[in-house]
Amino acid sequence: MTTQIFRSASRAARSFISKHNNPRLFSSEGRAVAAAAAVSSKGVLPALASFGRDNSGNTSSSWIAGAFALPAAAYMLQDQEAHAAGMERTFIAIKPDGVQRGLISEIIARFERKGFKLVAIKLITPTKSFAQQHYHDLKERPFFDGLCDFLSSGPVLAMVWEGEGVIKYGRKLIGATDPQKSEPGTIRGDLAVVVGRNIIHGSDGPETAKDEINLWFKPEEVTSYTSNQEKWVYGNN
Ligand code: RTP
Ligand code: MG
Repeated sequence: MTTQIFRSASRAARSFISKHNNPRLFSSEGRAVAAAAAVSSKGVLPALASFGRDNSGNTSSSWIAGAFALPAAAYMLQDQEAHAAGMERTFIAIKPDGVQRGLISEIIARFERKGFKLVAIKLITPTKSFAQQHYHDLKERPFFDGLCDFLSSGPVLAMVWEGEGVIKYGRKLIGATDPQKSEPGTIRGDLAVVVGRNIIHGSDGPETAKDEINLWFKPEEVTSYTSNQEKWVYGNN
């Protein structure tokens, strides 16, 4: 049983190494992953952990780190690969009113605390024509010109956030377009009063998210990394 587990875990680890070639996973981070896995697993990993005991019953941490960091890391990585399938990215911008009102940290904190991951961020003042491109789907609306004037009136904090369901849930965190109708607890509900100054923008669907990320960011400005929190934010029991 244990041998089978070890083999399949090692296979997964090897496949991960060849795919991602990330040596950090097998040094200190590998140890942290092993420890986390041993704590969180109910069935399989206690058997592996018992292998780390010497004859006196003491746990040999170097033994665990050396021999079991790899398979334990593989389990965690399999989990990560499973959840990676549901990963999404969305474009979120704090508009000039949110920036001027000092709400950047408040808004970022809400996305961070939820468990979403920031993968790109920059402060820029868009030109009016850039604002028109961003809001092109609203060009027939009577407020279009004023909206684009406003978006280009000062610095905007442009961001890309990543996570499972982040496009739809990001909109929930933001709240209804008109802050008079946004629920308390949402960003607009708590921090804004009128629709013309609703402090934040969020992509409204997967296609829009892709287009807006490409409009605001060059590919090299959007990072990819594994957050230390990921194994605690995602997982199946
Ligand atoms: P956003 O794109 O900024 O995230 O806002 P949203 O999806 O909730 O709403 P949308 O219909 O896309 O409208 C874009 C922005 O236009 C301004 N607006 N003004 N009646 C009005 O004066 C009016 N309606 C919309 C708001 O700033 C809205 O966020
Ligand atoms: Mg919109």
